[in-house]
Amino acid sequence: MTSILVLNGPNLNMLGSREPEIYGTDSLTAIERICRERGDHLGVDIEFLHSNHEGTLIDAIHNASTRTDAIVINAAAYTHTSVALMDALKSVPQPVVEIHLTNIHRRESFRSRSYISLAADGVILGFGAKGYALAIEAALGLAKPR
Ligand code: DQA
Repeated sequence: MTSILVLNGPNLNMLGSREPEIYGTDSLTAIERICRERGDHLGVDIEFLHSNHEGTLIDAIHNASTRTDAIVINAAAYTHTSVALMDALKSVPQPVVEIHLTNIHRRESFRSRSYISLAADGVILGFGAKGYALAIEAALGLAKPR
């Protein structure tokens, strides 16, 4: 069965109560449900992970290289800072779909720079929680059988 790793970075565990006027009111649990429903619909296994720690996200990317066919990642604030996450994504053969709830290009200028984009095959942004379902479809389209 095709397997997609959905990775979520810092502060996304606070979704629902975190700046709802920017990020909406869906919690990360609701987003996980959206991912699993789309996975069931498409017949793919979803591994859903959140961490506030850069190293944990990097370990998950490394471990994905043997278990996963594609990676969907919302690196949150690490998007704009982490050369290490970009390098980790480049170190594995899996296709990468970058996702953001918000349109990062319409916000503060520092959010327009994404290190993750330099390792991503495609980017989905600005569609809120529903974007995760789109990202899973895109990732399935790119997935290479192991
Ligand atoms: C985000 C955008 C980032 O700039 C921000 O730091 C986040 C969430 C998004 O999904 O829109 O934490 O990745």
